[in-house]
Parts: sequence; C-alpha cells; structure tokens
Amino acid sequence: MGDYTNMSGYYDLIMTSGYYDYDKIVDNLIQHQPFSSVLEIGCGTGLILETLAKRQPNLTITGVDLTQAMLTIAQQRLNPFSQVTLHHQNVTELALDAAYDLAFSYGGVWYFVIDGDKEPFLVSHIAQDEPNRVGLAHLAKHVKAGGQLLLGVQGPHHDYASPISNGMLYSQKIEPAEHGFIKHYYLADGDKKLMAQTIHYRTYTFTEALAMLKDLGFTYQAYAGDKPQFLTFRKA
Ligand SMILES: C[S@@+](CC[C@H](N)C(=O)[O-])C[C@H]1O[C@@H](n2cnc3c(N)ncnc32)[C@H](O)[C@@H]1O
Repeated sequence: MGDYTNMSGYYDLIMTSGYYDYDKIVDNLIQHQPFSSVLEIGCGTGLILETLAKRQPNLTITGVDLTQAMLTIAQQRLNPFSQVTLHHQNVTELALDAAYDLAFSYGGVWYFVIDGDKEPFLVSHIAQDEPNRVGLAHLAKHVKAGGQLLLGVQGPHHDYASPISNGMLYSQKIEPAEHGFIKHYYLADGDKKLMAQTIHYRTYTFTEALAMLKDLGFTYQAYAGDKPQFLTFRKA
C-alpha cells in the first residue's frame, strides 16, 4: 500500500530534477490562508514542508507518512524547524491528538489528475476501496469545522524515460489495472539498474470522489482560471 522504501534513497534527486515544482506548490498552499496549523498526508522526504516552514515560520506543521525510509530523510531535513512534527502512520489508522485548519496531500496518498478539458479523476496510493474510505474518514476527523482539505493536481501519467540532473536515467511505465493502474518507477546509471518500484493505484471518477468527500462533510470549492496546484474542499 504505497510503500516508497525502494525509491527513498533517490527520491529527492528525481523530484528536484523537475518532477515537482515545490516553490509553485507552496505558493499555491499559501494562497489558501488564513490558517495557522497544517497537516500533510504522505509528506515523504519533507520537501514541501521544508519550503513551507522556511516561508511561513509561524505555522504549526505536522507531517505523516507510511514509509519509514522516507520519514528518516524528512526528519533530518526538518530537524532545524522546531515548529514541524513528523509521525510514522498509515492514513488508514491516522490518530493525532489535534485537528488542523488545513490538511493537504500532494502526490501523497490522494491526488487529482486533470487531463486537458476532461473531468478530473481521483488517484489513490491505496489500491482497495474500503481502506480509502476509512483513510478519508480518519483524515476528515483531523480537519477542523470550517477548515480546508487540499488534494494536489497532476497531469496525466504516461510512459517516458528522461535523464535527471546528474545524468542518471529515470523512467516510468504505466499499465492499466482493474479499478486503476499500476505504475513502475525505475532509475538507471548507464547499464546499472539502481532502483525499481511498483505502486498499484486506485482511481475514482470525479463524481465518486465528490460523493465520498461530501459524506465526510467536505464541499468542493470550484476554481476559476488555469489548472490549479490543488483542488479545495471546505469542511462544514
Ligand atoms: C510521491 S510521494 C509524495 C511525497 C511528498 N508529498 C512530495 O511531494 O514530495 C508519496 C508519499 O505518500 C506516502 N504514502 C503512500 N501511502 C500512504 C498511506 N497509506 N499513509 C501515509 N502515507 C502514505 C508514501 O510513503 C510516499 O512517501
């Protein structure tokens, strides 16, 4: 279920070679102010939280991740920031002693894919239906009434191979699966295969996603203009 152990040692290298634009993600997060406490689900190696903590030093920040190897890197990265707390938890069993003004997930656990003018669909790192519902219900309990849930937006996935900043070759391959797709991630240095990781993703139509979230008290806040970094839901 979304285990990133194999990729963890190479994650920062791949992501900071242009896979994600962390400044842009944080710009968009900050536009959702006011909030003073924030929770990231699937914080990985802490790249978003580091950028956020630097830019908004007064926020109380919490990160949760399933993969200890990713969190170990996050712990080192975020050690200088006393306002950041990290927890090793699966979102399906999320249990923190606080509720937050804003919770978000970017590429971690849940995100939306927007492909041109087509309707967005929800992608989850959790392959089975029931644990998705349980995880979202646990997450909902950690968002304050009137608070916001932000789920990241990505473009469509496709097969490709591309060199990263140090000349190694990153590649990914997608295959369809029942209720979703399987994504294979690879990193190679010349003939040497350095990393291989496979994740089974579940997908939900936009209608299904809105219904699941509505049942938990979240109302979709439609956006105007260009493709955003997040879709926003407000808790009743
Ligand atoms: C693509 S990474 C995103 C990391 C980070 N948000 C970023 O933008 O760099 C996805 C992360 O979600 C975590 N994850 C996947 N399933 C999870 C679950 N059920 N509970 C908590 N974390 C999970 C993985 O361990 C991984 O670190």
